[in-house]
Amino acid sequence: DISTEINGLKFKNPIMPASGCFGFGEEFSEFYDLNILGGIAIKSITPETRFGNPTPRVAETPSGMLNSIGLQNPGLNKVIENQLVFLEQFDTRILANVAGATEEDYIEVIEALNDLDVVDAFELNISCPNVNHGGIGLGTNPELAFNITKLAKKHSRKPLYVKLSPNVTNIVEIAQAVEKAGADAIVMINTLIGMKIDIKSRKTLIARKIGGLSGPAIRPIAIAMVYKVYEAVNIPIIGVGGIETCDDVIEFLMAGASAVQIGMQNFINPYVCKEIIEELPSKLKEYGFNSVKEVIGVAHE
Ligand code: DHB
Repeated sequence: DISTEINGLKFKNPIMPASGCFGFGEEFSEFYDLNILGGIAIKSITPETRFGNPTPRVAETPSGMLNSIGLQNPGLNKVIENQLVFLEQFDTRILANVAGATEEDYIEVIEALNDLDVVDAFELNISCPNVNHGGIGLGTNPELAFNITKLAKKHSRKPLYVKLSPNVTNIVEIAQAVEKAGADAIVMINTLIGMKIDIKSRKTLIARKIGGLSGPAIRPIAIAMVYKVYEAVNIPIIGVGGIETCDDVIEFLMAGASAVQIGMQNFINPYVCKEIIEELPSKLKEYGFNSVKEVIGVAHE
């Protein structure tokens, strides 16, 4: 049995693409049937159309990908009219990632999506490294994280998952703050802040200078953080960070994640989620498990 549960909400399997790495699924639906996915965390939605940051906004480094997209998205109304209508046809959980510059922005998006059946849960993005307001500022301070979570929870009529930033001294206190504020689950981790300088041009490779680092280099960091937060909170964790293989998924489950998200690897291999879902039953068996649920947290004493 490869199904899992987040606070009683059933997922057919624990695998979902991470926000920002799958758009709204349109392009990937040409590669495979999206019905196989446990869920999809769609790109952040903001009230207005956003064209994103100046280019270049993606750079490769020997240890991963840097990006500073700037929350590019069609904006709330267009997403409701187009992308969410497209997603209605699929039997998979849709996590609507919510972002904004102000508290009012977050509330506006949540209220507009509250009555849409296609959205199964909200994923509150308080960890975007590339916008000055809202974004990461809220996710690096326990009080601000508590306040925005509490406010979002008050306006939300769907499960509220909060996506945490790893760019903090102690992620455990942020996790505890959002739990106390009523978060139904934690998604962790978002990207780590990084920079790449081109020697020849003597300039940063990303126009906005810093970007979010993703890829396998961040996986041990994510595993350690999931492991620590699992011991400190009583809400489920969705693990994210550098997953490339089925073994990486099992490692996150053992650390304490109830489900996982796969980000950058979708750009390298668009079939990665499908391949991992297909491999998961035999891998579980190989390691002596009958179900995904049995694996969650086994690395803890
Ligand atoms: C962006 C948002 C993120 O949450 C992230 O980790 C990286 C990039 C963005 O849209 O710029």
